[in-house]
Amino acid sequence: MVLLELRNLTVVYPNSKKPAVENLSLSLKRGEILCIVGESGSGKSTVLKAIAGLLPPNSRVSGQIIFKEKDLTPLSREERRTLMGKEIGFIFQEPSVYLDPLFKVGKQIEETCRIHFPQRDCKSATLSALRYCGIPDPERVYNSYPHQLSGGLKQRVNIADATVNNPSLLLADEPTTALDVSTQKKVLNLFRKLKGDGKAILLVTHDFGVVWEVADRVLVMKEGQKVEEGDVFKIYESPKHPYTQRLVSIFKELSTIG
Ligand SMILES: Nc1ncnc2c1ncn2[C@@H]1O[C@H](COP(=O)(O)OP(=O)(O)OP(=O)(O)O)[C@@H](O)[C@H]1O
Ligand SMILES: [Mg+2]
Repeated sequence: MVLLELRNLTVVYPNSKKPAVENLSLSLKRGEILCIVGESGSGKSTVLKAIAGLLPPNSRVSGQIIFKEKDLTPLSREERRTLMGKEIGFIFQEPSVYLDPLFKVGKQIEETCRIHFPQRDCKSATLSALRYCGIPDPERVYNSYPHQLSGGLKQRVNIADATVNNPSLLLADEPTTALDVSTQKKVLNLFRKLKGDGKAILLVTHDFGVVWEVADRVLVMKEGQKVEEGDVFKIYESPKHPYTQRLVSIFKELSTIG
């Protein structure tokens, strides 16, 4: 079942004439991971922000963002905010920026739960989410401040926060870029587990290694437009666009060395 569909999405930032994203269409099913790749400035993060309703005010958006058969573009900022954290989870590249240094991480996740489900036992939902995300001692992590945790743990806390309310769609912007290789693997395994549990995941990366580990399909962007899309094996075998060719050949070279 298609969960998310973009139809001719075009985004123009305030005070800009050139669209950051132009006529972009894609669809994503439950239990599927679509990776968006593309060079810096090609519009990848803008696509995620448009879906999440996180664009700056006065950005011009046209086309449709259909989530669960409903177009999100006419909704108010308030209505969009209600969806975030509840039905749509967002995972950022740099977890330290996202987490508030002054509060214990458990309290922060609990808050995400409480905003949407005030009646729920949010402490136990938080501990379950931490456990699900592969954190062996959830109580300790619950009671930690962000600076007491390693980068990998912080990113898992971030994912626990994004998933505590069991959303059906996850948007992840370069979620493993800031992590070392072995932690990257663990986080990618977690994405595979989320996919196995039926989540639809839109993941932005510039690393074909990440694509190879988790993606079902790949979408390549350049200057705001889609230039290539396909099954991950097909893209690996015969990338068409020069950017994709470069990305794949770097990956193949590194795999041979490794
Ligand atoms: N808040 C903003 N206001 C104006 N222009 C912006 C804003 N954010 C991004 N842009 C511009 O929109 C274009 C797309 O940016 P975006 O951040 O989506 O690219 P990206 O593919 O995510 O790049 P990167 O790989 O570097 O993260 C770029 O030209 C960028 O300069
Ligand atoms: Mg970006």
